[in-house]
Amino acid sequence: MGEFDLKRYLSERKLLVDTALEECFPVPAGLEKRLLEAVRYSLFAGGKRLRPILCMAACEVVGGDLKTVMPVACALEMIHTYSLIHDDLPAMDNDDYRRGKLTNHKVFGEATAILAGDALLTEAFDFIAKAGSNGKVSPDRVLRVVGLIVKAAGYRGMIAGQVIDLESETRSVDLATVEYMHIHKTGALLSASLEAGAILGGGSEEQVGSLQRYGHHLGLAFQITDDLLDVEGDVQLMGKTPGSDAARNKKTYPALLGVTGSREAAREHVEQALDALASFDDSAGPLRSVARYLLVRKA
Ligand code: IPE
Ligand code: IPE
Ligand code: MG
Ligand code: MG
Ligand code: MG
Repeated sequence: MGEFDLKRYLSERKLLVDTALEECFPVPAGLEKRLLEAVRYSLFAGGKRLRPILCMAACEVVGGDLKTVMPVACALEMIHTYSLIHDDLPAMDNDDYRRGKLTNHKVFGEATAILAGDALLTEAFDFIAKAGSNGKVSPDRVLRVVGLIVKAAGYRGMIAGQVIDLESETRSVDLATVEYMHIHKTGALLSASLEAGAILGGGSEEQVGSLQRYGHHLGLAFQITDDLLDVEGDVQLMGKTPGSDAARNKKTYPALLGVTGSREAAREHVEQALDALASFDDSAGPLRSVARYLLVRKA
């Protein structure tokens, strides 16, 4: 068998996610037309769909059925997209470009952008609850997934990371704080995507734990490489403007460790992510490949 074709895998999976997401929100109409346009504008702006793809891969690696996780995979992308819309607001990172297009607030105004984010976050939980509707997953597994996604997306996870990120713009912080921030603002939802996929796929506690650990290190490596792209990335490939972190005095890995030190840190976390998969056979090939790809990603 030849080398695993990650590029093809990612584009096929992205298509599955895009198709499923297409059905999640109605065609914009009625008095709330503009809100729905704003939701769809960001949702279909061309994200990589990494979190849903990881959720699906985790489900498959424990022997689960993809159909079971699709609603949750969509929900994770809704939560992620909401977080990006809000992250770009003037009150937060004040960015003008995202996914190769003007940011949501630049097109629809701040109020509608905030509400589009609110709508995405709220709707996500209806889709998570739907994971139980085909009768293939027990209610206790669905409830566990609700709980872990709440924890990852809320004040114990992503929101904690985001508030530390913003408050750190005006003070000096140490590397342990930046690591804590990255684990929360990005690692938590990534890791939850894997854990949710493994739980819904019927994985054992050991498998769920391994995938959670993989997700933790993958999430850290992902945010460190995001920080690196902000320093040395290409605007066309990334679809967002580099240099934004330095301009806002963000506390990133490159700001604290330099580019070389940050690359090394990312490499170490990728190694640890791969270690976490040691007990899986070749079916974990896509997950291994995604981890290695982080070190060379351009978007
Ligand atoms: C960007 O996430 C925000 C971070 C957590 C670093 P992605 O790089 O996954 O963004 P999209 O979804 O592909 O646009
Ligand atoms: C964002 O981190 C993490 C989120 C939870 C949205 P960044 O602020 O670095 O993400 P980008 O670089 O704007 O995509
Ligand atoms: Mg930010
Ligand atoms: Mg940002
Ligand atoms: Mg960034």
